[in-house]
Amino acid sequence: TYLGIDVGTSAVKVVLVDRTQAPLASASTGLMTSRPRPLWSEQDPEDWWRATQTAVAEIRRQAPDRFSTIAAIGLSGQMHGAVLLDDQDRPLRPAILWNDGRATTECAELAAEVPGLGRIAGITAMPGLTAPKLLWVRRHEPDLFRRVARVLLPKDYIRFKLTGEAVTDPSDAAGSLLLDEAARDWSPPLLDACGLTLAQMPRVVDGTSAAGCLIPAVAQDWGLTHRTVIVAGGAGDAAAGAVGIGAVTDGDAFISLGTSAQIFVTTGEYRPAPETLIHGFAHTLPATWFQMAALLNGASVVEWAARLVGETDIGALLARTEAEFDSRDRSRRLLFLPYLAGERTPHDDPHARGVLFGLAPDTTPTDVMLAVLEGVALSLREARDCLTAAGTRVDTAAVIGGGARSPFWTRLIASALGIPITRYAGSESGPAFGAARLARIAVTGEAVEAVCVKPPVLDVTRPDPALGVTYDQTFIRFKRLYRALREEFK
Ligand code: XUL
Repeated sequence: TYLGIDVGTSAVKVVLVDRTQAPLASASTGLMTSRPRPLWSEQDPEDWWRATQTAVAEIRRQAPDRFSTIAAIGLSGQMHGAVLLDDQDRPLRPAILWNDGRATTECAELAAEVPGLGRIAGITAMPGLTAPKLLWVRRHEPDLFRRVARVLLPKDYIRFKLTGEAVTDPSDAAGSLLLDEAARDWSPPLLDACGLTLAQMPRVVDGTSAAGCLIPAVAQDWGLTHRTVIVAGGAGDAAAGAVGIGAVTDGDAFISLGTSAQIFVTTGEYRPAPETLIHGFAHTLPATWFQMAALLNGASVVEWAARLVGETDIGALLARTEAEFDSRDRSRRLLFLPYLAGERTPHDDPHARGVLFGLAPDTTPTDVMLAVLEGVALSLREARDCLTAAGTRVDTAAVIGGGARSPFWTRLIASALGIPITRYAGSESGPAFGAARLARIAVTGEAVEAVCVKPPVLDVTRPDPALGVTYDQTFIRFKRLYRALREEFK
């Protein structure tokens, strides 16, 4: 059997799968994010490790016999996080996460210091990526920065706990703004610009390669001493999602609706287009890359809205919103800008915030919920337009992540984007499942195409033409509203 561990933002999720790729057990342990100051977003790496152990213990409880036959473990994780360790391998401070917006000045400095940065690193310098946050630490916490012995990404901290090895994979390293994406290895000029040396960085291995073995102490704790358990390179959560859904050949596209949201397209070659604010990154699979529009606000915004209107049962609120949808007076629509955590694609604006526009005395919780679902759908449309500008057409896409559980939301997104959207079986557990696939390839050496097949189709949602016409109009107002407010956010 194979174990996939996804160090997400809202939870650590773990799945155990067998040789037929059937899920045998799954577990999830929640995580808290702290926002000690405006724009800051942090988590304690030790919390990831505790949550991993709790979730693994739960898997072991659910399937004790199959757990004991684990041959390999794969890792997936939230990207871009800066984990800084001292020379005793202890975290020096909380990890600074992907949705942290503090490092704006540092982005401008990096761009000025490294000409052609976007072409090397596949992306323009944006706060939230690892490198500008390291520069922020160097400036604001210089004593701490001098003590940095290792820089790791979130899932690689868990690997370090499991194997004692400092290793990462190309797709996660890709999000650091320190990788030479074409060469799939650290970029000396970018490291230099951040005051870092190669000795502080993990080794980069493909996600399908073995990257170490469980250390005896962990093997003992988990009751796995009778065999060598390999830990594979793994992937950043976006690329792990691609592996899970079988989006592994040129042109395969999917939308991920987790805490954040992405539109991800696998490419057979490196295709940077930093001016469009998309991410042109190395994939975790050998000789493969991807283009990605990365939005900071996904399904988490829907959860936030349900809490705001005092509804604990999100499913019930979604069902009421859907039930009222077809008989709704289309003229009284609210507009919602979903930028609660600022936005990367399509705005590169850490200061942007959520806006609910058009409130009236008779506005109801379902009006708000609909506006929120549509707001994320329209921001996906604007992000898709960035991919189009980068020369990549998205004619059809899969959908994965927690948001994929809602056929209603899928219908709104299909209509806003004007493309059919496919839901596959088991797609909520995408990245952890993808990690388990990478673990399998690392042990068996099977071909990527043989293992990373597309799961069975649940349904295909086609765009609704009438709704599409309405959304064409709404989209113009949606874009105008952000542009009218952009200066107000600063
Ligand atoms: C991708 C991104 C997020 C994180 C957290 O660029 O920032 O998707 O990986 O899930």
